[in-house]
Amino acid sequence: MIRFNDITKIYQAKAAGHKRVVALDGVSFGVEKGEFVSVVGRSGAGKTTLFKLLLMEEKPTTGSVLYKDQNIYKFKSKHINNLRRSIGAVFQDYKLLPNMTVTENIAYVMKVIGATDMEIARDVPRILEIVELEERGQNFPEELSGGECQRAAIARALIHRPEVVLADEPTGNLDPYHTLDILKLLLKINEMGTTVILASHNREIINKLKKRVVTLDKGKIIRDEARGRFSL
Ligand SMILES: Nc1ncnc2c1ncn2[C@@H]1O[C@H](COP(=O)(O)OP(=O)(O)OP(=O)(O)O)[C@@H](O)[C@H]1O
Ligand SMILES: [Mg+2]
Repeated sequence: MIRFNDITKIYQAKAAGHKRVVALDGVSFGVEKGEFVSVVGRSGAGKTTLFKLLLMEEKPTTGSVLYKDQNIYKFKSKHINNLRRSIGAVFQDYKLLPNMTVTENIAYVMKVIGATDMEIARDVPRILEIVELEERGQNFPEELSGGECQRAAIARALIHRPEVVLADEPTGNLDPYHTLDILKLLLKINEMGTTVILASHNREIINKLKKRVVTLDKGKIIRDEARGRFSL
């Protein structure tokens, strides 16, 4: 479903000296529909860059990103919108709007894509049930624990019914208890049919999952294991 094809990404730093950073160096791998893949590697290995290329926030320097066999950088704008809707993204710092309740945060993204009030009233409670936040809809982010904030952010990412969920270090700010909670939720989402790509540098987490692990080191894939153990 997704294919990174011989991707090289070189950042040209804006600061004095114009130092070039090779963030990805000849990266090729594919993700099948319904897979759960973890991308692991030290800080700076290129994990977030990989996600940014798929979200079209950055362009590859060379190489191509295919989504359903089509080069996404050759998409027309209509297809770009469809692509963005079919990928839900979750980040370490949640990115919830602080002046809106959980329900409003989710309703807001639905409104942006033109959902009616009726659809919002129908879908928001359903999605809160999936992430087990039924009781927290009327709370503001600052009234929630980190784990609850992340579940709210995942609910928001799921509201478009994306085919793929990208989770970039989603448990980076969480204690072990909430970390497990979020992992279970990602596994549940995967079992419901969504493709999940998880970026993390937490060895314990990845070992627990017993899913495919792609290891990046300094922008190169050094390992790709079906049921990996993360080791660096
Ligand atoms: N906009 C940018 N300009 C210049 N260099 C960048 C930019 N974004 C990332 N880099 C560099 O590219 C490399 C890969 O960064 P990336 O954010 O993909 O790593 P990461 O694996 O996600 O790391 P972390 O685990 O810390 O999140 C790093 O050396 C980083 O400093
Ligand atoms: Mg990162």
